[in-house]
Amino acid sequence: MKKRLPVPVTFLTLLVLTLTFHHLSFAQTIPTDPAVISAGEALFNGNCKSCHRVKQKLVGPALAGVETRVPSIEWIYGWVRNPAKVIASGDAYAVKIYEEYNKSQMTAFTSYTDEQILSILAYVKAEAEKPDAPAPGTTTTAEGGGQAGVPAGYLNAILIGMIVILVLLLIILTLIINALKKYLDQKDLAEEDKELVHSKYTLGSVFRSPGFVFLIVFLVASITFKNVIDGLYSIGVQQNYQPKQPIAFSHKIHAGQYEIECNYCHTGALKGKQANIPSANICMNCHTQIQQGTNTGTGEIAKIYAAIGYDPTTGSYTGKQKPIEWVRIHNLPDLAYFNHAQHANVGGIQCQTCHGPIQEMEVVKQYSLLTMGWCIDCHRKTDVNTKGNAYYDKLLELHNSKKAMKVEDIGGLECAKCHY
Ligand code: HEC
Ligand code: HEC
Ligand code: HEC
Ligand code: HEC
Ligand code: HEC
Ligand code: HEC
Repeated sequence: MKKRLPVPVTFLTLLVLTLTFHHLSFAQTIPTDPAVISAGEALFNGNCKSCHRVKQKLVGPALAGVETRVPSIEWIYGWVRNPAKVIASGDAYAVKIYEEYNKSQMTAFTSYTDEQILSILAYVKAEAEKPDAPAPGTTTTAEGGGQAGVPAGYLNAILIGMIVILVLLLIILTLIINALKKYLDQKDLAEEDKELVHSKYTLGSVFRSPGFVFLIVFLVASITFKNVIDGLYSIGVQQNYQPKQPIAFSHKIHAGQYEIECNYCHTGALKGKQANIPSANICMNCHTQIQQGTNTGTGEIAKIYAAIGYDPTTGSYTGKQKPIEWVRIHNLPDLAYFNHAQHANVGGIQCQTCHGPIQEMEVVKQYSLLTMGWCIDCHRKTDVNTKGNAYYDKLLELHNSKKAMKVEDIGGLECAKCHY
């Protein structure tokens, strides 16, 4: 007679074994070491981010939790090194996602080692487990940012509420006065008292009083004066200019939500005088795949296709082009010279310093004054960015000063630097 292990013991052993294997195949295969995660982050940002995000669908799927969807971690190694081969092999899962993503081809990363791919997965997993940050734009304060924390809407509501209460008080007071008058009329009053009760404070007499006339004249005069002064200061100044664009292109979605770099589209900003408005070709890098927006449906994206002559049903170009006529927002007069590379690249100034929180704007508006005073003011206040610039090191040495140089000190206030 064979000796058998008691049933509970077998069961327990099996349980422990499965749990161990489970543990091994998941928690251990995807490392949680911070060094590995940061290596993975660099790889992800450099090579995957143009098509993938951790929690959002972009050109390819959101990668969060990918290790639980795919057949195995090894499958991912093979896929990343050669997606086309995996699809061609007839692998059911690969074919399925390929179809799902309109047969768009993922780049092959042939030279990637298992460790490198694993580090990317480690980064993705760490990112996926982070709690969601509030979406950009949800923390906006009142326009102008002046009143800390009190949205303009509330202020208006409070004001309207107060006016309503005042009017109600006025009505109630009039009713009380009338009731009192009626009551007193029924009484037998002396002639003097009667006169007092019926004496009229007509509105007319109030309006004609010298105090009131003075008040009105004063108010009208100051409002006119202020408008004239404001008007004089803003001749040719277009701050807050916000025209409607031919396509409802949103920086909030592209630069904010999807964190696409400014330079990806404004290719000249770090290299030349002009920042450049992107051509429709750049839009097509993504919009051959993304044919529909969640807010505007197909209509707006169809305008890109019309501009570049693309037929999304056949995936071919018709050759009939009609450039998108973007309305120019920022525009210096011809007499002034402004160079983007000098400021954004050499000077190291953030785009947002001059253009405001573009990544939160549904529609772009001119954020700064763009007057000569605005340029000069910043040149007086801003230190020259001397970091890693041998030319400036020499200059500092020559001037024998440890103090930071302002733009003013390198000639930033000379007329000829800004005027042709
Ligand atoms: C040019 C765009 C592009 C780049 C770059 C790219 N991918 Fe992809 N990826 C895709 C697309 C599109 C798919 C969906 C399948 C298909 O259509 O081929 C995909 C699918 C995947 C999948 C399967 C996802 C799932 O949910 O099943 C993984 C894993 C993956 N990619 C990893 C990576 C990694 C890691 C990198 C960077 C080293 C990377 N991808 C870079 C476009 C890209
Ligand atoms: C996906 C492409 C794309 C990205 C990314 C992008 N932009 Fe733009 N940008 C455009 C397009 C298209 C226009 C013209 C339409 C408009 O004004 O909205 C534009 C217009 C502008 C304008 C106004 C130009 C004018 O007419 O004076 C500014 C300023 C600007 N972008 C700054 C930025 C900054 C700063 C970033 C990064 C935070 C950025 N953009 C990211 C595509 C992009
Ligand atoms: C790097 C990728 C990328 C580039 C380049 C790009 N877009 Fe987009 N675009 C997106 C993504 C992602 C969405 C969001 C789709 C959604 O709503 O789910 C989007 C959405 C849109 C929408 C629809 C918004 C909505 O929700 O209704 C419009 C319109 C649009 N893009 C226009 C443009 C134009 C014009 C350009 C070129 C100047 C451009 N895009 C370049 C990725 C890109
Ligand atoms: C020091 C202030 C300053 C900084 C920093 C700056 N800009 Fe500008 N930007 C301007 C001015 C001024 C104009 C108007 C130029 C003109 O009319 O010649 C302008 C115009 C533009 C335009 C309109 C088209 C064009 O090429 O003139 C775009 C797009 C733009 N900026 C994008 C950017 C981006 C992207 C960055 C960051 C990489 C950036 N800007 C950084 C001041 C700035
Ligand atoms: C936010 C601050 C800021 C604003 C606004 C600004 N500048 Fe500048 N500007 C700088 C800085 C910083 C430098 C120095 C860059 C460097 O390191 O060479 C500079 C340099 C220059 C130079 C080169 C000066 C030299 O002697 O080499 C010119 C020309 C110039 N700016 C023109 C303008 C004009 C025109 C405007 C307004 C339309 C303007 N700037 C607005 C910060 C600003
Ligand atoms: C940092 C750059 C900068 C410097 C330095 C500078 N300007 Fe200007 N200037 C501008 C800009 C930008 C405008 C256009 C402003 C506008 O459109 O409101 C302008 C406008 C003017 C105008 C007005 C033209 C008109 O059409 O109204 C005059 C005049 C002028 N500048 C003279 C000078 C003189 C003189 C100097 C030397 C003392 C000088 N500027 C130095 C940037 C500069």
